[in-house]
Amino acid sequence: MAARASSTGASAENLMRGLFPGARLIVAANRAPYRQAAGLHGEPRWERPAGGLTAALDPLMQRFGGVWVAAQPGSAQELSVPPEEPRYQVEVLGIHPEVYRAYYSGYANSGLWPLCHNLVERAHFRPSDWIAYRQVNRLFAERIAEVARPEDIVFLHDYQLAMVPGYLRGLGYSGPIAHFWHIPWPPTVVLRLLPERRLLLQGLLEADWLGFQTEDSVDAFASAARKELGARVLREADGIRLLYQGRMTSLAAVPISIDAARVEEIARAAVTKERIEKFRAHLGLEDSALLLGVDRLDYTKGIPARLDGFARMLARYPSLQGKVQFLQIGVPSRREIPDYRRLAAAVRRRAQDINRRYGKPGWRPVRLIERNLRLDQLVALYRIADIAVVSSLYDGLNLVAKEYVAARVDNGGALCLSETAGAYQELRDAFPLSPLSPERIAEGLARALFASEEERTRRMTALRAAVARNTIDTWLGRVVQGLRSAVPQLSGENATPV
Ligand code: F6P
Repeated sequence: MAARASSTGASAENLMRGLFPGARLIVAANRAPYRQAAGLHGEPRWERPAGGLTAALDPLMQRFGGVWVAAQPGSAQELSVPPEEPRYQVEVLGIHPEVYRAYYSGYANSGLWPLCHNLVERAHFRPSDWIAYRQVNRLFAERIAEVARPEDIVFLHDYQLAMVPGYLRGLGYSGPIAHFWHIPWPPTVVLRLLPERRLLLQGLLEADWLGFQTEDSVDAFASAARKELGARVLREADGIRLLYQGRMTSLAAVPISIDAARVEEIARAAVTKERIEKFRAHLGLEDSALLLGVDRLDYTKGIPARLDGFARMLARYPSLQGKVQFLQIGVPSRREIPDYRRLAAAVRRRAQDINRRYGKPGWRPVRLIERNLRLDQLVALYRIADIAVVSSLYDGLNLVAKEYVAARVDNGGALCLSETAGAYQELRDAFPLSPLSPERIAEGLARALFASEEERTRRMTALRAAVARNTIDTWLGRVVQGLRSAVPQLSGENATPV
């Protein structure tokens, strides 16, 4: 297995082996990184879901091995993955469809998701959804407690599983628990709209280490724990610790990343060059620039305002008409939820309106592709996109921004990035976007489009250095180091210095 460099110079693998000898990674996340479905004629067909979390963690699991616990409606599955060359196990809990709906579409995605993105009017907290949420979290905890040994690392993910640390301790699990919150943690005034906020905070504080994407989220969590539970906040040289009911929990801002080496490898591959030529011809790019958006069709991503901003730019700079096109990849997402169906319809309408208004024979300003593309296809698109547009209203991080940068092995292209996406904290050399107003978006896009070659190269070179400084391995190294210092009871017994 290839070990890669972390921020400390040691590889994540060495760190893990040195700090937690004999440990396996027991990951738990709502979604499994692979799904086995039935094909048209009943033959098994493998699917890979869209979304940053699975894309980021799968390469790590492939390198480290271990077990990934996930959930789905219907029957349970046990899979050895990746299918072509199995390296780790996936255990999918089968949940009664009604319970799953109330937990996933209900509490997690109609409650916590909009609330954590500060979109308070979209958030609904139904008591029956809360019951289902706890029920599924308990099932996760029971399965993890069966699988994990005390010397393993239990690594939990995201807002779907906030109660799992508490339930695991209740079941007597005493090994190290890390929990990473992939989305923003909201300010306390917003969190107060959540009826069960104290129970969620208490559940999370049973973990030894809690990771967030940004300092803002760390501060907001610490402040909520203090104001809502009376936890003591201890600011120490290596970060913040919270003391609550005799238990200490470390907090850290550790932005997640991508397998940058893998993206670069794909970007340089001969087959990608062929694909680039095909895509160019298909899109008719001989004489026009390409703007690219890649998002799940989610209302937090700011897609309608982005397309409106593109249209404003066409109106303001008529010379661009016929010379630029916007390709939006919209990955279908959470379609059981009416807000998501409305958003997808609004994006479709926007694309049609703009095409009707500005299109002319031989030039379609906006193309919308509503499906999930494979990473190798995306990388080819990243290579030909003059501008990647990430204009989320709020975003925990946004890995598309990092993937685009990693794919630009030619130091070309330009990234327009929302200042409210977590990734902006690391990628300050992007062209900034203010995501709410189409006027401002038009300005931001035009600025990137008209920037000198020199400025674009300078920015991209700096962005590439930022992505290289923090890859998915660096991230895991930081998680493991943070967890290790959060569980001092291990010290001197079986851990070796690295
Ligand atoms: O980052 C938030 C998140 O829910 C992740 O857990 C997941 O990668 C992504 O969004 C996709 O969401 P879903 O699993 O609901 O399709």
